[in-house]
Amino acid sequence: MSIEIPAGLTELLQSFTVEVLRSQPADLLEFALQYFTDLRERERGKAARGGPGYERRGHPRGVNFAPEEPMQTDSENGEEEDDDDEEEFVAPVINRFTRRASVCAEAYNPDEEEDDTESRVIYPKTDDQRNRLQEACKDILLFKSLDQEQMSQVLDAMFEKPVKCGEHVIDQGDDGDNFYVIDWGTYDICVKSDGVGRCVGNYDNRGSFGELALMYNTPRAATIIATSLGAIWGLDRVTFRRIIVKNNAKKRRMYENFIESLPFLKSLELSERMKVVDVIGTRTYTDGEQIIAQGDGAESFFIVESGEVRIVMKRKSKTEKEENGAVEIARYSRGQYFGELALVTNKPRAASAYAVGNVKCLVMDVQAFERLLGPCMEIMKRNIANYEEQLVALFGTNMDIADSSA
Ligand code: CMP
Ligand code: CMP
Repeated sequence: MSIEIPAGLTELLQSFTVEVLRSQPADLLEFALQYFTDLRERERGKAARGGPGYERRGHPRGVNFAPEEPMQTDSENGEEEDDDDEEEFVAPVINRFTRRASVCAEAYNPDEEEDDTESRVIYPKTDDQRNRLQEACKDILLFKSLDQEQMSQVLDAMFEKPVKCGEHVIDQGDDGDNFYVIDWGTYDICVKSDGVGRCVGNYDNRGSFGELALMYNTPRAATIIATSLGAIWGLDRVTFRRIIVKNNAKKRRMYENFIESLPFLKSLELSERMKVVDVIGTRTYTDGEQIIAQGDGAESFFIVESGEVRIVMKRKSKTEKEENGAVEIARYSRGQYFGELALVTNKPRAASAYAVGNVKCLVMDVQAFERLLGPCMEIMKRNIANYEEQLVALFGTNMDIADSSA
């Protein structure tokens, strides 16, 4: 007789077993009751939230919310305290480079940092966790220029952390301990300056944060508050610096001259231009591939590094209420940018972009765009004003980017 194992059972029991081994509870039954009750609450929270993140990543049942012990760390690995309550979970900081007691204005010089490959951190993961982690990381720009081995070390070192609604994942002014990639959930970005705090943006089920304090050894530049239940993946400071920051030094050498040569960035100081290099990722496209789609929500800004990009607009006449054919409105090549309009106006993409031949773009996410390119806004807005004229010449007066230069 063949017995069918219900989908998710193995995952569920694996996660539970790991948690039992990690926590060593005195009363197993009581622990199991608490564990599965918490799990059900979280699943209900996620289901109630629904939303693209949940659907997109298709979380199966039996998610393990607590990190296991890292398998391998260096000899001075700090002891992690046992803690039965998952909700109280504090992301572990591994090895001797523990969280700093005070902010250090350390110079940015990753090459001088110890390349301590012995301190490789590995958090074992279930298949489900690994799948979700890979999905969450696939569009993270900071990871885009890592080679396979570096990426695999990063994935190994990441640990899952559940987040409660209202929780401050990061507090402005604190020292940086981890970099985070969002698995699911929504988060506000709040910045306090001159004693006045304001929400400057948010993350909706995707993205990453917490890189700045680790890259530049500065205090946390913003407070990140969860506005729903959620889960994030943490990467400890040491691994982040060993892999990402070192890789950034290489990226700087590669892109310094190119970024220097871009006229629309000329309002930035040299150090600001280097910060642009630090946060960009590269994406490649093959001939005919769509880079952005008219009408979509916008998350990124693009600079063409090589190849050509066609900008195509489908005209929707206000009077006729029908769509006419797509018209090519621009072509961009090395050094030119696109995809700024929707970020500046907070509207859907005004046109589509397609690769002509093989194309490589430098890509920046909306948070970095807003944080770093403020000084370039005048130049960009002047260009946006030209779009209007261009469209009037092409289509007459019925186009709808009228207030885009506001
Ligand atoms: P970090 O300073 O380490 O911690 C807070 C994080 O918020 C920061 O890294 C960025 O990843 C993220 N962030 C997003 N938008 C901003 C912003 N406008 N200013 C500062 N930090 C921001
Ligand atoms: P965005 O709306 O974010 O995405 C489509 C991009 O096409 C847009 O930003 C601009 O960068 C670019 N574009 C080029 N010419 C025009 C135009 N005439 N009107 C609108 N967008 C244009």
